[in-house]
Amino acid sequence: MQKILFTNEVRQAITSLIEEMRPASVHIVTDSNVARAVLPLLSLPYPVITVMPGDEHKDLSSLSLIWDGLIKGGATRRSVVINIGGGVVTDMGGFAAATFKRGLRFINVPTTLLSAVDAAVGGKTGINFGGLKNEVGAFAPADAVIISTVLFSTLPSVELLSGYAEMLKHGYLSSEETCRRLLNYNILDSRPDTLLPLLEESVRVKERIVVEDPCEKGLRRALNLGHTAGHAFESLALRCHKPVPHGHAVAWGMLVEMILSHMTEGYPSRELHILAGYLKDNGYGTPAFSCDDYPALIEFMRHDKKNDTPGEINFTLLSRPGLPLIDRTASDADIRTALDIFRDMTS
Ligand code: GLY
Repeated sequence: MQKILFTNEVRQAITSLIEEMRPASVHIVTDSNVARAVLPLLSLPYPVITVMPGDEHKDLSSLSLIWDGLIKGGATRRSVVINIGGGVVTDMGGFAAATFKRGLRFINVPTTLLSAVDAAVGGKTGINFGGLKNEVGAFAPADAVIISTVLFSTLPSVELLSGYAEMLKHGYLSSEETCRRLLNYNILDSRPDTLLPLLEESVRVKERIVVEDPCEKGLRRALNLGHTAGHAFESLALRCHKPVPHGHAVAWGMLVEMILSHMTEGYPSRELHILAGYLKDNGYGTPAFSCDDYPALIEFMRHDKKNDTPGEINFTLLSRPGLPLIDRTASDADIRTALDIFRDMTS
């Protein structure tokens, strides 16, 4: 099982892990932003392989740059890779480690809230390929993940909100009580010591699900809550050259999917109003779209790689906070109605 450490003593945690693992050599993988802003704070005595930041560089050429760096640095099968960065670095560095010499051990140290709560944990690794996101990859859990909220101190508000949406998602998958606690916490006014236990609770929700279903054959699909509609909002925004943060799209997607849950599974309407009010009051904004965009949004949903049955759109819905329903589908007419209601609630 993946070891997850929650601590604000990052350097010490890395040093103890490396002592335990007794590797032949250690290699850091990071991007140039993190190399500048975070690595000096950790002053780790290991060689660094630096890739370009951003999802557009989560590609084959960055992957081969990492493999090259490992070869030049003399990595052997007994070496350890430490991925320090956001989701792009942990996904790509994890994939590089998992494939180099048929697999090196690796540690993830997420530096964004979004990667701490999601990408760094659970073993999904990979790169974008052929214009498709995460098209090539492997399930390869890190040997350890070190989660530390002190690393988020320089994150802009928009990044914090984006990561917090995934924490809210875990809350909705967990219980009504956890949701309430998260909805009452102000992430934009958070301190590392108060955020760390909340984040631990959130990551443990994902961990429990992943332990039961590591390769996403069933239960793990619950983690897709908000993502079918969310990815459609993200794709539409990208097509209009106005990209939106992933977590914001997931937050909007959760509201759409809760409306669908209300329409088809009896999800309580007051929960819709609570989430809509929260998103409005906490700076999540609203997606720019009109009813003319419904066909495009539905087409994006239909082409989502989460769909197993051709033509059907796969959703994770809820019957109550804490009670997810996986492998649900909805008709185009219901999705249109849900989008109408979403626009009313968020305007
Ligand atoms: N991001 C959802 C998962 O890891 O399954």
